[in-house]
Amino acid sequence: MDQLKRQAAARALEEVRDGMQLGLGTGSTAKHFVELLGERVAAGLKVIGVPTSEATRADAERCGVPLTTLDEIDHLDITVDGADEIDPELNLIKGGGGALLREKIVAAASDRMIVIADDSKWVPTLGKFPLPIEVIPFGLGATRHAIEKAFAACGVSGQMAVRKAKDGHVFVTDGGHWIVDAQLGRIADPASLARALSAIPGVVEHGLFIGLASSAVLAGGEGIRVIER
Ligand code: A5P
Repeated sequence: MDQLKRQAAARALEEVRDGMQLGLGTGSTAKHFVELLGERVAAGLKVIGVPTSEATRADAERCGVPLTTLDEIDHLDITVDGADEIDPELNLIKGGGGALLREKIVAAASDRMIVIADDSKWVPTLGKFPLPIEVIPFGLGATRHAIEKAFAACGVSGQMAVRKAKDGHVFVTDGGHWIVDAQLGRIADPASLARALSAIPGVVEHGLFIGLASSAVLAGGEGIRVIER
């Protein structure tokens, strides 16, 4: 599996050109991309990256990838990031690693978002992977109620749980928020659900990435498949 993730990362790296400004994703697949990019930088490639999490910032620094912020520059050429699920329209569920807010800000500031994954992430319909919803801790009861109403309006339902870290404490995102994971099973209309969740004041962001990915690089036993939107 790790080998497949690295192959997908290597294929995405072929799209990178000298002088590019890159969004650097989060997760085990994106980590391969950062490592491979670091090797190219060491060999003379000139790029600059914006990391989507503190974990990726640390990885990029370790690999010698020069970094900047979206305050210093206002747009990116390509973001390369992983995903938890990818559907045939290249809608995504992201946020399994908890970095969905920065990942979405960075992807939205990019001309292109290339999703890299092993082909187990390819699904006919999103929803088997629990949908991460980043929330403000204040008023969480009311926010959960509003989320349930949004689910009902979009024809989905399922258990919600506040994400815990490995140490048993509540998981806190890089932005200082919490995450509620929702087991929905099947999301027939992800665009409507995305809009409904975005309209809730206590929801900071959610893991539905609609219309953001421009291509997906999927590595599997049969080789690499590139799907363009
Ligand atoms: C991080 O918040 C996520 O969006 C990751 O991009 C996603 O969970 C994929 O991670 P892996 O590459 O580790 O599967």
